[in-house]
Amino acid sequence: MKKTRREGSLAVFPGSFDPITNGHLDVVDRALRVFDRVRMAILVNPEKTPLFTVEERVEIIREAYRGNRQVEVDTFSGLLVDYARRVGASVIIRGIRAISDFEYEFQMALMNRRLDPRIETVFMMPAESYSYVSSRLVKEVFQLGGTVTGLVPPVVERRLRDKYGAAIRPAGPARRRTAGTRRAARRGGAR
Ligand code: PNS
Repeated sequence: MKKTRREGSLAVFPGSFDPITNGHLDVVDRALRVFDRVRMAILVNPEKTPLFTVEERVEIIREAYRGNRQVEVDTFSGLLVDYARRVGASVIIRGIRAISDFEYEFQMALMNRRLDPRIETVFMMPAESYSYVSSRLVKEVFQLGGTVTGLVPPVVERRLRDKYGAAIRPAGPARRRTAGTRRAARRGGAR
């Protein structure tokens, strides 16, 4: 059989991953068709207030990929190209869902190339079924009582319940229950 993967190759997949979605997992799957290992590298960004701490995000990714030795998880701060060089990766993976992602990604890729021309950015397209999925929307929908099943791995749903469970339950008997808050209450107690 023809081998398409580069022997011993490592690609870095950087991001905030707050939290990971099935779109991210789809990109990792695709990257593993081309590279031997993918290292998901979470940016430690003190200027952002994420929902999940960096440690929680590492745990979530570890759990999502338990038993899969081709997927690693790490954190980094500072320049991405410096990190990639330090860990021996010459490829950065980024997912592009739609044209709207392109401009920002293109700018980053060209800046990274200017910073270190030896590191190549490879764009991968997740399945169309994930083209509208983002970490931000997943958090918003869940927080408002909507379902995110099928959009994130089970570990993320569980962690979202842990984070938001109490917060999205009605505060007291005076609050009228809607279908959304009833669902949220059930989810909060389901663990
Ligand atoms: O998931 P995100 O938030 O879109 O990921 C953005 C990320 C982490 C890839 C980007 O912010 C990044 O690489 N930051 C590191 C700082 C850096 O290298 N900046 C200069 C190149 S653009």
